[in-house]
Amino acid sequence: MLHIELQRYRSHRPYYLQILEQVRSGILSGEFPAGMRLPPSRQLAIELGIARRTVVIAYEELCAQGYCVSRVGHGTVIAPITKVNTISSHHPRTGMPQWFTVEAFASPETISSITLNRKSLICFAPSLAQTERLPIKAMRQAFQSVMQTASTSFQDYKRNNGHPSLLKAICQAVLPDRGIQATPDQVIITNGSLHSSFLLAKLFAPYGGSISYGIPGYLAIPANFTEQGILGLPCSVDTEGVCLTDEARSARFHYVMPEHHFPQGVTLSPERRASLLELANHHDALIVEDDYDSEFYFDRHPLPALKATDPSERVIYMGTFSKVLFNGLRVGYIVAHPTMIQQLVDLRWQQEGGTSLVLQLWLAELLNSGAVERHLRRIRVHHRKKCNLIADYLRRDFPDWRWQMPSGGLQFWIELPLQHNAQQVIQQWLERDVQIFSGLDYCDRQSKESENYLILGFGGVTEEQIDQAFTQLR
Ligand SMILES: Cc1ncc(COP(=O)(O)O)c(C=O)c1O
Repeated sequence: MLHIELQRYRSHRPYYLQILEQVRSGILSGEFPAGMRLPPSRQLAIELGIARRTVVIAYEELCAQGYCVSRVGHGTVIAPITKVNTISSHHPRTGMPQWFTVEAFASPETISSITLNRKSLICFAPSLAQTERLPIKAMRQAFQSVMQTASTSFQDYKRNNGHPSLLKAICQAVLPDRGIQATPDQVIITNGSLHSSFLLAKLFAPYGGSISYGIPGYLAIPANFTEQGILGLPCSVDTEGVCLTDEARSARFHYVMPEHHFPQGVTLSPERRASLLELANHHDALIVEDDYDSEFYFDRHPLPALKATDPSERVIYMGTFSKVLFNGLRVGYIVAHPTMIQQLVDLRWQQEGGTSLVLQLWLAELLNSGAVERHLRRIRVHHRKKCNLIADYLRRDFPDWRWQMPSGGLQFWIELPLQHNAQQVIQQWLERDVQIFSGLDYCDRQSKESENYLILGFGGVTEEQIDQAFTQLR
C-alpha cells in the first residue's frame, strides 16, 4: 500500500520531487517490491489534493530513472531491477567497508568537536575571527562584481600559482604591510596556512632531515612535517621566543611564529631573529614563518616579518586570511623562491587542482576595494577593547592566575597555580555556560605541568558576551 505524505507549507521541494523521493526510498528499502502497481495517477492526485499532471511527471521520472515501468493497460509498476538495489536486512547499513575503522584516523578532541551545541554557551575558543563585524555589504558587492564578468573570467581555470588579480592584490595591498616586497611569481595561493604547511611538507619530504619547533606551540603544523617522515625537534619557548636546543640548531627546517608565538603570544627577539637567519645560512636550512595574526596588534606596530629581513631567501612565509576575514574562508598563501613556487604548483595541480577561482576573484575584488583594510582598522580597535575588558575581569576574579597582557593576537595564555587543574576549571565554567579551553593540545602531553594551562580566545566573542560570561562566573 503506497502512502505518500506531502510537506506543503515549509518545504521548498516541488510536489513531484516529494512523490518521486518517497516512492524511490520505499523501493530501495524493500518496502515496495518489484511488480507492485502504483495507484493510477488520477486516484493519487485526488488523494493528495494536487494536479494529476504533477503525479504523472513524478511517475515519468521514476520510469526514466529505471525504478518503474509503464505498460499500457497495466499502469505504472515497480521494475524488477530494484531487487538489486534493495538493502538486505542482514547487512548493517553503515555504508562503509568492514576494514575501515574510525579509530585509525581518530584525532584528538578538537575545539570544534567539543564545542557543545548549547545556544546559551559563551565560547572563548582561540584563533577565531569575529564574523559578526564582517563588512557584509562590501563582501556582497565584491561578489556581484565577480558574477558580472563570470562568463569570461570563469574560463581562467589554469595550472598556475593563483589568479593574477589575487596575486597582484596580495603583493601590493598585503605584503608591504609586513615589510615584504614580492612579485607574483614568488607567491602561491593555498587553502589556508595548514594547507600551506601540508604542501611544503610534501615538497620537502624527499629531502628528509629534521624540523625544530617551539612547545607549547601550534603543533598541527610540525605534525604535517613529521607525518612526511621529517624528524620533529621540540624546543622550549621563553620570553624571547623559541629557544633552540643544540640538536635543533642544525635542523634542516625551523618552524617559527616570530610576531606572536602561539599560544603564549611571545615575540621573537631581534637577537634571536638574527641568530636564526645566521644559523639557517650556516646549515643550509630553511625557516617556515607562520604569520597567522600579526594584523592584530594593540600597543605597538608589529616588527617586520622575518621574511622581510632575509636577503638570502632562507625564509618561506605563510600568510592567511583566516583571522583577517573568517576562518572558514580557507584562503592563504606562501611566499618563497619562484623555483619552489613552481614546484608547489606542479605538486598541487596533480593532487587537487588549486584554490577555488570564485574565491580568488572575490577576495581580489575585496582587497582592491579597500574594504579589507577598513575592516582591519575597525576590528583591531574592537579586539583591543575586548582584550582589555578580559584582562580587567581576570585581575578582579582570578587574581592568582598568571598571564601576560597580549600585545596583539586573539587569545590569553593562562598558567594556573600548581594546586589547580585546568580540567576542573573547564568543567566549573561549563556548568555556568562558559567555555574555556585546555592548553594541553599545544603542550607536551607527557609533562605533568601541561595540565595547568588554559587558553582563552576572544576573537569570536562580543563585548556583551564577555560581560555576561564573567557575570555568570561570579
Ligand atoms: C598559529 C596558527 N597557525 C596556523 C593556523 C592555521 O591557519 P589557517 O586557518 O590559515 O589554516 C592557525 C589556526 O588557527 C594558528 O593558530
